[in-house]
Amino acid sequence: MKGMFITVEGPDGAGKTNLIKRLVKAIEAEDTRPLVVTREPGGSQIAEEIREILLTPRHMNMDPRTEALLLAAGRRQHVVEKIRPALERGDNVLSDRFVDSSIVYQGQARGIGIDVVKEINSFAVEGLKPDLTIYLDVDAEVGLNRIKHKDSNRSQDRLELEKVAFHDEVRKGYHTLIEEEPERFVVIDASQSEEDVFQETWRRVKDRLIK
Ligand SMILES: Nc1ncnc2c1ncn2[C@@H]1O[C@H](COP(=O)(O)OP(=O)(O)OP(=O)(O)O)[C@@H](O)[C@H]1O
Ligand SMILES: [Mg+2]
Repeated sequence: MKGMFITVEGPDGAGKTNLIKRLVKAIEAEDTRPLVVTREPGGSQIAEEIREILLTPRHMNMDPRTEALLLAAGRRQHVVEKIRPALERGDNVLSDRFVDSSIVYQGQARGIGIDVVKEINSFAVEGLKPDLTIYLDVDAEVGLNRIKHKDSNRSQDRLELEKVAFHDEVRKGYHTLIEEEPERFVVIDASQSEEDVFQETWRRVKDRLIK
């Protein structure tokens, strides 16, 4: 049987990476199949090298379409090398971001257009879709402040350096996607405490794990 493909989405600083750490233990305890945990941009060696190019603040002059194509190229390699083989051998896969991120960051917030970005990504992933997407919903400003203040050791990447208006568009883009496919998304209020975000997510996701 095919494994289950779960993605976690949300604006910068929503708490995706944090939630995934907690979810891994819970999913592994509930479901005996191996769990492959991965992230985008990146997830394979080639894609991690592309990630460097994408996120370094050295490339503030990157063209939006270049950005979208690099993301799709990295994603292609990630799918071929890691995600698809894992699902085919029956492992579950949990990914920190996937196609939805490109649709909202490049399509909506950069203004290339949602449909164009969907098209280049459909070329890249050949129809692969998450079975379930956990969306951490939080005000753009709240997320950005978490990154800035709570994690002062961590320097901001090129996309995080965008203004609040850009991140408001990101959130708007996610809401459009959720309206289009309400059954795929589990929307979580990520303004809650880390523990409550985890508890609510787990309560709502547990029963949807394919048995
Ligand atoms: N619910 C929460 N309440 C308060 N702070 C939180 C919450 N969730 C995460 N944080 C803190 O906010 C910061 C960002 O969290 P995290 O890295 O998990 O977000 P992220 O969504 O993965 O961000 P990015 O998009 O930049 O990868 C961390 O310092 C984390 O401890
Ligand atoms: Mg993260």
